[in-house]
Amino acid sequence: DWNMRAFKEQAIARIRAQVGKGKVICGLSGGVDSSVAAVLIHEAIGDQLTCIYVDTGLMRAGESEQVVSLFRGHYNIPLLHADASDMFLEQLHGVSDPEKKRKIIGKGFIDVFDYEAGKVGGAEFLAQGTLYPDVIESTSATGGPSATIKSHHNVGGLPAHMKMKLVEPLRELFKDEVRALGRELGLPEAFVGRHPFPGPGLAIRIPGEITREKLEILRKADTIYLEEIRAAGLYDEIWQAFAVLLPVKTVGVMGDDRTYDYVCALRAVTSSDGMTADFYPFGHDFLARVSTRIVNEVKGINRVCYDITSKPPGTIEWE
Ligand code: XMP
Repeated sequence: DWNMRAFKEQAIARIRAQVGKGKVICGLSGGVDSSVAAVLIHEAIGDQLTCIYVDTGLMRAGESEQVVSLFRGHYNIPLLHADASDMFLEQLHGVSDPEKKRKIIGKGFIDVFDYEAGKVGGAEFLAQGTLYPDVIESTSATGGPSATIKSHHNVGGLPAHMKMKLVEPLRELFKDEVRALGRELGLPEAFVGRHPFPGPGLAIRIPGEITREKLEILRKADTIYLEEIRAAGLYDEIWQAFAVLLPVKTVGVMGDDRTYDYVCALRAVTSSDGMTADFYPFGHDFLARVSTRIVNEVKGINRVCYDITSKPPGTIEWE
C-alpha cells in the first residue's frame, strides 16, 4: 500500500525528531494498536525502545506466550514481561462486582507498569497506540489531551511522578489504517486482524467470582470456539467472538451418570465500532459442532447456550 509506505516513512522521521537520543517505554497489550505502535517505534529508534507486557493472568490460552515470542523472539525488541498473575488473582479473590473487578485490574496494571518502567533508567517518553477515535473521545471527555493510559485499562491517569512525554504515532489513524500499517510493517496476520479484547480480560467473561479453575475451564472452551470459527472461515466476518463461563451449574447426563457442571454461553457479534452490534447468525450445524466439542472436551461444562441479543439493548460483554 503506497499511502501506508509514505505514512510509515513520515512517522519514523517524526518519532526520531521527537525522541532524539531519549529512551521510550511502551506497554503492550497483545492487541493491534500497541503492537503496531511498538514495531513502528522500534523501526525508528531501535533499542532506545523498551516494551513492557503486564501479564494479568487473565489472558486467553497461549496469548502471553505469543506476545513474548513475537516481540522478544521475532523482532528482538527489549521486552520486560511482568508475570503478575498471582497478584491479580489474589486481589480479585472473593470479588464479584464487575466495576470492582475493573478497578482492581486497572490499578494493579498501573502499579506493575510503574514498577517495571522504573527498571528502564531515565526513560522520558511513554509510547501509546492511541488512535484518532481515542483522541476525539478523550478531548471531548476531558477538555484536552492528557497523559491518560488508553481507556483500554480503565484508568484515569498515570501516577504524578510518572509525568512522561507521550509518543503517539497512530493519533491520526483509524483502525483499518492501523491494520494496513501493521501489514506494511510485516506484523503477522494473527496480530493485525485480531478481534478487540477488553483490558480486564477474562475477568469480565466470568460473571461472579474468578478462580484459577474457572479461568482454565473458560480458556479451553474459548479456544475450541475460536478454532471452529477460524476453521469455518468466519473469523474476519465477526467483530468479536468469545465464550463466557456462567456461575451456574445445571444437570446433565454422561454415560450412566449424572453431571452437575457449569453453563457456557457463546457470544459473536458483527459491528463497525462496538457501539452497536448484531448477534452473528451462525448456522445450526456450526453451533451443534461447537457445543458437542465443548461438552465432550472441556471437563466442568455440560451445557452450551448461544447469545442472540443484539446491542442495544444488550452489551457485547456480559459484565
Ligand atoms: P460493551 O460490552 O460495552 O463493549 O458492549 C463494547 C466494546 O468495549 C469492550 N469493553 C471493554 N474494553 N475495558 C476495555 O478495554 C473494559 O472494561 C471493557 N468493557 C467492554 C468490549 O470488548 C467491546 O469491544
